[in-house]
Order: sequence, then structure tokens, then C-alpha cells
Amino acid sequence: MKNKKYAYGRTTLYADDKVEVVLIEWPPGAKSAAHDHGTSHGMIRVLEGMVYCDNFSKKTKQFTSRLVGRKGDMLFETPEIVHIMGNNSKTKRALALHVYTPPLKMKVYSDAELKR
Ligand SMILES: [Fe+2]
Repeated sequence: MKNKKYAYGRTTLYADDKVEVVLIEWPPGAKSAAHDHGTSHGMIRVLEGMVYCDNFSKKTKQFTSRLVGRKGDMLFETPEIVHIMGNNSKTKRALALHVYTPPLKMKVYSDAELKR
């Protein structure tokens, strides 16, 4: 049986034509696919645990930075980046609230498209 306590979860809490609010839970060791954010700007508030964001230029696909957010930190997403978000903990989940405007229409990339 799957352990629901640590299942990946993406729950839309609110959405209209201007804003989307999403709660995302990463189990230990989980990470997202590489993705952009279309024309959206996003704000992330880490609620629990620690997340990392590996950022790449959307234009060149070159790695630019790794940001780490701990409980209470704010991270930001812009239309100019592609990133991978994840949880490096081996035992603890990470939980973060994401707010996007306009609502997110992301494109997914393969790791082979990105330059480290
Ligand atoms: Fe993202």
C-alpha cells in the first residue's frame, strides 16, 4: 500500500482567470520535471521542510543558480527561467504554497535539453 503521508501532492486551492494558488508536497527525495512557467510569475512560500530550485535560462538552457528555501522563505519564479524543484531530505517531506499570475501554463523539458 502506498504511504499517503509522503505521497507527491499538487492541490489547487484556488484558481480564476487571473491567479492560481497551489499547495505542493514533495516526499523525501522527490523532484519535479524541468519546466518553465509560460508567461506566469510565481511566488513560493516554504511551509515545511526545505526545497531546492535549480534554475536555468529559458533562452540558453544554461544553469544559472541553485536556490534553497527553508520554512518561512519566499522564492520566486519568472517567465525567463526553466527550473527543477525538489526535496533533498531522505526522511522529511517538503511543503510549499505557490501563487501564479496569470494561472500557470508550463512547458516540460527533458534533462538532456539543459546545460549544467
Ligand atoms: Fe516551477
